[in-house]
Amino acid sequence: MLALGCDQGGYSLMQEVIKYLDEKGIEYKNCGTFSEDPVDYPVYARKVVKEIQSGACDKGILICGTGIGISIAANRYKGIRAALCGDCFSAEATRLHNDANILAMGARVTGPGLGVKIVETFLNTPFSGAERHARRVRLIDEPGEDE
Ligand code: RB5
Repeated sequence: MLALGCDQGGYSLMQEVIKYLDEKGIEYKNCGTFSEDPVDYPVYARKVVKEIQSGACDKGILICGTGIGISIAANRYKGIRAALCGDCFSAEATRLHNDANILAMGARVTGPGLGVKIVETFLNTPFSGAERHARRVRLIDEPGEDE
């Protein structure tokens, strides 16, 4: 299950993402926001993070105006690897190498056509499973392991 969250700056792109998910029959939990009224993006980052940390969802998509604030907020939480992507190469690489569990995008940076392609790439790319990548992902949460 996928958790979705955005602020007012990301609302328009999130509507395109939702259209894509509905067309493909991909299940999601929409954590809001539900309009273009101003809200605080860390609140929506946290809602999506909680869905992932509880195990209710395995991945998330977060969108704000730039994707920067909402990805910074999400990455403050343990076990969260939120990748801000503006191209498909990065979306593929962050799944293969970083096992990213949240895709972040900026609706004022990335247009709807590319944004949906980035989502498609992110959702369809598995973690490579290579030991060197798994070790590096572990080191993100356990920095002491590098000795
Ligand atoms: C909201 O105006 C804007 O600051 C927000 O969407 C985001 O771009 C923050 O990083």
